Amino acid sequence: MPILHALQETFGHVPEDAVPLLADALNLSRADVHGIVSFYHDFREAPAGRHVVKLCRAEACQSMGGHTLAEGLLRRLGLDWGGTTGDGQVTIEPVYCLGLCACAPAALIDGRPLGRLNRERLDAAVNEARN
Ligand code: FES
Repeated sequence: MPILHALQETFGHVPEDAVPLLADALNLSRADVHGIVSFYHDFREAPAGRHVVKLCRAEACQSMGGHTLAEGLLRRLGLDWGGTTGDGQVTIEPVYCLGLCACAPAALIDGRPLGRLNRERLDAAVNEARN
C-alpha cells in the first residue's frame, strides 16, 4: 500500500506498467496488485483532471437526493463515474461517506467539503473550481 500511495502521489495515478514490476518485486501475482489498485477507490488507473469532484454515494446522502444530484451532474458534463471532461478540467469520482451525513448530500471538490448540496450549489461550486 505505501508503494501504491507513493506512485499515485508522484504520477497522479498508478501506471499500468508499474503493476508487473510491483508484482515481481513483492512476490505477488499481477492479479493481486491489480486487485488492490482496482478495489480501493482512491487509487486511480489513469490521471485525474485538474479538479476532482468526489460525490458521496452512501446511504445518508442517497436518502437526501444524492443519487439524482450525482446523475444530473454526470449527465450535464457528459461523464460516467471516474470520467474526466474533454478539456481535462474535471473528474467525477464516487466516495462512500465523507462523515458529513448530517449535511447530506455532500461532496468534496479538490478536498474542500461541501454539504447540503442541490443542483445550483453543486454547479456553482464546480464552475468556481474550473475558473
Ligand atoms: Fe454522505 Fe455520510 S453518507 S457524508
